[in-house]
Amino acid sequence: MQVAIDGPASAGKSTVAKIVAKKLSFIYIDTGAMYRACTVIAKRHGLDYGDEVAILRAVRQDGIEFKTGDGEQKVYSAGEDISLEIRTPEISAHVSQVSALKSIREEMVEMQRKMSGEMNVIMDGRDIGTTVLPNAEVKIFLVASARSRAQRRLLDFKQRGIETTQTVDEIEADIAARDYKDSHRAISPLKKAADAIEIDTTEMTIEQVVERILSEIEKKL
Ligand code: CDP
Ligand code: CDP
Repeated sequence: MQVAIDGPASAGKSTVAKIVAKKLSFIYIDTGAMYRACTVIAKRHGLDYGDEVAILRAVRQDGIEFKTGDGEQKVYSAGEDISLEIRTPEISAHVSQVSALKSIREEMVEMQRKMSGEMNVIMDGRDIGTTVLPNAEVKIFLVASARSRAQRRLLDFKQRGIETTQTVDEIEADIAARDYKDSHRAISPLKKAADAIEIDTTEMTIEQVVERILSEIEKKL
């Protein structure tokens, strides 16, 4: 069974995907974390965020790995835990540029398909239902108002212990800019798959979203 969860920034994809994965003992794959890791690698190598060839080389050299520690999924590159760094505003500001690079997308999509293999998997991102897992049995497209997504993101920073000087207005502007870039890029842009179920989570709790997705999965089991 493959479950694809797509949608704009901060719609709640990873939060609900993790809970659903735990309840059903599915493997959870956070594809956004992989593009964020590519961006951290580019930064650490002092590369231009548009330098496709050099970034791909650096990504292959350093690698991207998921490991479970303290009950949390952690992201490692070149042997170092980069789980906090991938969430910083600087990385968020540049990730859409890196994720639009053709060879980076090809490399990540190949890794994502390999990681899912023959297992039951729930994967979240932007192009899962359209490109990575086009035959997924369940496809969900999560949306929420830009304001509520910005408020959730600010709260999320506090909970994760990431310090920020950004106001909710600034976060909302950043999110809107990233959504625009992600939706307008040439290769596999953010788009609802024709057979995806759209859920507007603006007025929903996490538990309600989880229940709704579980009921869609049950229908297919
Ligand atoms: O958590 P948030 O919604 O802010 O973003 P994310 O899921 O961590 O994804 C970060 C960025 O990676 C997105 O803004 C996209 O540019 C890129 N991304 C992508 O291009 N394709 C995916 N399947 C997942 C993420
Ligand atoms: O993965 P994505 O960027 O789509 O969003 P997220 O990082 O899972 O969610 C952003 C924040 O929204 C998290 O702090 C969640 O606790 C919160 N939230 C939610 O995910 N769903 C709701 N219905 C309400 C709040």
